[in-house]
Amino acid sequence: MSTTLDPAQRGFDTVALHGGHGGDPTTHARAVPIYQTTSYTFDDTAHAARLFALQEFGNIYTRIMNPTTDVLEQRLAALEGGVGALGLASGQAAVIYSILNIARSGDHIVSAASLYGGTYNAFVHTLPRFGIEVTLVDADDPAAFAAAIRPNTKAVFAETSSTTRCRRRTCCARSSTAPTSSSTRRPSSSEATEPPSAASWSTAGSSTGQPRAASPT
Ligand SMILES: Cc1ncc(COP(=O)(O)O)c(C=O)c1O
Repeated sequence: MSTTLDPAQRGFDTVALHGGHGGDPTTHARAVPIYQTTSYTFDDTAHAARLFALQEFGNIYTRIMNPTTDVLEQRLAALEGGVGALGLASGQAAVIYSILNIARSGDHIVSAASLYGGTYNAFVHTLPRFGIEVTLVDADDPAAFAAAIRPNTKAVFAETSSTTRCRRRTCCARSSTAPTSSSTRRPSSSEATEPPSAASWSTAGSSTGQPRAASPT
């Protein structure tokens, strides 16, 4: 049995632990059961037909819906105050699904330039092949986001804890008191400079070169 806890009425920690799951009504087991099934049974062919026609809600196939994944999705939606959530097998899939859900060929998105390497490659190399143009801007400059928005802009994207920013700023700031190593050394003057302007980061007709290796974190 699933239940949605409202973070406004329950504490964030309580929702993080119990949101989307009220315990098993039959066994009273507390833990979320792991349903290791790919497929589901149908009462009869008419039942199956109604499910596949989306006339009736029910489990059809685990890649589309699974009761264990449903608890995660309900929990995240409750924590974020969303109407729903979709759980995916990887962060990269989630990023791509999010963009392709709202943007199509001829559309445009604005993104912070400080990105996880895989996301950078997806935005700079892959999305343009789908006809979606991406403008990268300085993550520290809200005005740059506003200036880059166009009538066909469908999304503004940023990492709340930016992968490359974290590496440049947080780690390098610590290096002033820590021994110098390849991962903690201070940046050279050229590395420490701000990202180029929005115009020069735009993928439209750019010569951004080879795909960037995805950072391991
Ligand atoms: C900020 C960020 N976005 C996306 C990803 C990609 O996630 P995944 O490796 O699960 O595809 C990562 C992975 O570390 C990440 O740190």
